[in-house]
Amino acid sequence: MISDRTIREIMDVTRVEDVVGDFVTLKKRGQNYIGLCPFHNERTPSFNVSPSKNIYKCFGCGKAGDAITFLREHEQLSYPESLEFLARRYNIKIEETVEDSEAIAKKQMEEGLYVVTGFAQQYYSKLLFDSDEGKSVGLSYFHERGYRNNLIEKFQLGYALNGWDTFYKAAKEKGYNEKLLLEVGLISERKENFIDFFRGRVIFPIHNLSGKVIAFAGRYLKKEENSPKYINSPQTSIYDKSRTLFGLFQARNAIRQHEECFLVEGYTDVISMHQAGIENAVASSGTSLTIEQARLMKRFTSNITILYDGDAAGMKAALRGMNILLDEDLNVRLVLLPEGEDPDSFVQKHGTTPFREFVQKHATNVVLFQADLLNKETGNDPIRKAEAIREIVGTLAHVSDPIKRQMLLRECSTTMLVDERILIAEVNKLRRKAHGKELKPTLPEQKMLSDSAEEQMNFSREDFMAERDLMRIILESGNKKFNDEITIAHYIISSITDHPFEHPTYRMLMNEIVSHLNAENVFPEDSFFMEHKNEQVKQAVINLRHHNYELSENWEKMHEIFITDKENNYKKDASSALRRYNLRIIDRMIADNSKEMKEAEKSGNEEELMKQLQVRKSLNDLRKQLAAETNTVIVK
Ligand code: CTP
Ligand code: MN
Repeated sequence: MISDRTIREIMDVTRVEDVVGDFVTLKKRGQNYIGLCPFHNERTPSFNVSPSKNIYKCFGCGKAGDAITFLREHEQLSYPESLEFLARRYNIKIEETVEDSEAIAKKQMEEGLYVVTGFAQQYYSKLLFDSDEGKSVGLSYFHERGYRNNLIEKFQLGYALNGWDTFYKAAKEKGYNEKLLLEVGLISERKENFIDFFRGRVIFPIHNLSGKVIAFAGRYLKKEENSPKYINSPQTSIYDKSRTLFGLFQARNAIRQHEECFLVEGYTDVISMHQAGIENAVASSGTSLTIEQARLMKRFTSNITILYDGDAAGMKAALRGMNILLDEDLNVRLVLLPEGEDPDSFVQKHGTTPFREFVQKHATNVVLFQADLLNKETGNDPIRKAEAIREIVGTLAHVSDPIKRQMLLRECSTTMLVDERILIAEVNKLRRKAHGKELKPTLPEQKMLSDSAEEQMNFSREDFMAERDLMRIILESGNKKFNDEITIAHYIISSITDHPFEHPTYRMLMNEIVSHLNAENVFPEDSFFMEHKNEQVKQAVINLRHHNYELSENWEKMHEIFITDKENNYKKDASSALRRYNLRIIDRMIADNSKEMKEAEKSGNEEELMKQLQVRKSLNDLRKQLAAETNTVIVK
């Protein structure tokens, strides 16, 4: 483990513009730098780096963070790996806290395994290009399949000779011991001898995200009796099949650029698609998709397009992986290729443009695809129809995002001619069962708060802006004095205790500030937020700090709300933000009051009606007073 002191030292010298600048061409623009965003495809730069705040933010896709976030997202480094990267970059010596001997031994073992797999990859590649057998058997096979040499090199394909122990001998000569070779599964023991695991096969290396070879697959060249088409390296401490996607290392930048990942079945599908210039493809390698693989893709994009055979088996396989993808809140589309075709054969036969056009035309949301399929199958049979409904309800229950679920629900109800309310009730029942607790309602008119996106907030845009403004002021001036006794933070917090924030992240952030204030009696330091373990809190803080956001004139005009100039005066700023916040609360109370009055009227409860009218009067008075102080035009 890297010591706290080293972490401090690294964070003190790290400049976000240096680190981002290593990967993105940045131009100076005023105080800041701008460039083309590396996280999405764009022609005009909207990627902003602020040296003074030591953070970056893209105004196109919303990605934001500090140097560490950048390394984690762009380079897919872990937190310790990011720190190591920075230590190297700034020439800082890493001081490690003492690790237990077990962890050290494990690390050394893994290092050893990488060395061996690296050696084997080079060995097999060299044989493919340099040995007679490799050329005449392996290379000619790849060429027959239409793979060009640059592609063969890109995927580091190779060839294993058809002998018993040529690899073993070569490895032995290089000084690699049997224990390591056995451990990675490149040799096996037979009658006190060691023999090669891959013999007379073409080799497909499997890489991890940093490009290191962690395993191999070997394909036979002609059909052999009793021999599987592919044999694969065993699980080791560096290779976990369920956490690996073939081709992800080669595809990751293209996935990010196109904001889409094609999921195919096989090694050859991935490679043929690359050859056709479609580089954002990965393979689950013939097994059913796992949650870890879904999460792996999600690190690069939320849009997954599954490309499978159009036959019944392909369809089943595609639908089997679907729930896992839906559980991870991914947008899943499905393309079924004509029967008998896989992506490999299809793209080779028809070429790149027709392939893209076919995908474009046939990609269907996977839930709607299933609904349609079920609908076709059931016909007029009421029993089968009931089964079909149960099945689609099962799928819909996996869609975790309430908005998406609602939308899909509606379409399924139209496709399958089922009452939407029945679907809603059944889906909710299933979700309750699955989660063992009461669920947030699905209906849009009811309140649903999802922390993921601001647009999903059910309370109005103005409510949100009011909370965001207060949050921003607390972060910027929280520790400044409001008067002789209290700080701005105290002033704001004590004023809103009766009406806490609705926005889940802001509420969480506020709670953290409150408990920090209670415990330490000072406002938290910057590092408290920037090194926060909860990425959502960190993101929220970064976004608030970097608020070139739409505090625009437009917004002001549209909502006729006057926003004070924050440079002007932080006390005034805090007071007027509070007034705007209170206005929002009063408006919500007025809305409630209207409902109560209607109720009272309907039930003829005169007494209640009078009471509510009184309430309304005082609310109106309060609103007028506040609005006047806030310079807000009352639009009613
Ligand atoms: N697979 C495997 N072991 C097998 C068969 C298949 O691991 N015995 C995996 C491989 O990842 C393979 C994928 O399943 O790439 C799809 O299988 P298949 O379509 O049979 O193989 P392809 O790689 O497409 O080979 P080809 O096109 O040459 O038949
Ligand atoms: Mn194939």
